[in-house]
Amino acid sequence: MRFSIAFSVLEDLRLGFKASFMPAILAILKSPLLLFRPSALKRLMFFEVWKRYGGCADQGGTEVKKGLITPYAGGVVLDLGAGLGHTARYLDLSKVTKYIALEPNTLMHEGIRKEAAPYGFTESSGTLQLLSCGAEDTETIVSEIGGQVDTLISILMLCSVPNPKKTIETLMDKVLKPGGQFLFYEHVANRSWEVRVWQYLWTPIWAMFFDGCALNRPTDVYIRNLTCWKAVPEVMAEGDRVGTWGKEGEDLDSLFFHQVGRFIKKD
Ligand SMILES: C[S@@+](CC[C@H](N)C(=O)[O-])C[C@H]1O[C@@H](n2cnc3c(N)ncnc32)[C@H](O)[C@@H]1O
Repeated sequence: MRFSIAFSVLEDLRLGFKASFMPAILAILKSPLLLFRPSALKRLMFFEVWKRYGGCADQGGTEVKKGLITPYAGGVVLDLGAGLGHTARYLDLSKVTKYIALEPNTLMHEGIRKEAAPYGFTESSGTLQLLSCGAEDTETIVSEIGGQVDTLISILMLCSVPNPKKTIETLMDKVLKPGGQFLFYEHVANRSWEVRVWQYLWTPIWAMFFDGCALNRPTDVYIRNLTCWKAVPEVMAEGDRVGTWGKEGEDLDSLFFHQVGRFIKKD
């Protein structure tokens, strides 16, 4: 493994620090009690980071999302950890009846409204709903939505959710409709143990600036191993995809090794 890859997170950490340090200091000066609310402070810092770099992260995944979200998302769509709502721009309004953005960091909510409106999703028309619970709180999700959803989307979110294996299982069991689809694009534990060692080493400091984001989770494996999925059909339409695949052009040694996936729940 190359030295430059092992230390590639340093530049992102520097940028994350630069984007969030002063806003955090100003917020603490305004409200010193924030020092005793570390999770609120972390969310404020991540909001500042995402305001500045969320657009770049979206651009880096544009081709993946065009191939994953636009052709497949339909009906009632629940976007887990919606951030600033970048998913909305990939939704095909002729197929999606409602965009539900779940985002526990409520500082992001105004941004989601602004991002979703030009694509036809608004609260006033009933086509946009915001949820502020975590993805792990499946009881609240089902009760707020009033049922299950046709499409579940997770973009760069499972790295932050508590107890990821259990959360993924419960989401698929309780929140996704039978016959519904799960679409994801996540950075996951690398296949190479050498890279994984670096992912483990960097995760504690990375998580401090990026709201608990872990670099080393094999969430793609947890998803693939679930027994709730329909078998992959032997014959599929050309270009149709089910299962997991990698991000085209990505260095396999990357600390941010991505996996993309589409699974359909058994009826
Ligand atoms: C890296 S951002 C990705 C945002 C968005 N999906 C995108 O791709 O632009 C991760 C998001 O997950 C959210 N998040 C953190 N913990 C979460 C949880 N327990 N449940 C749901 N979302 C969570 C964060 O607030 C953040 O907005």
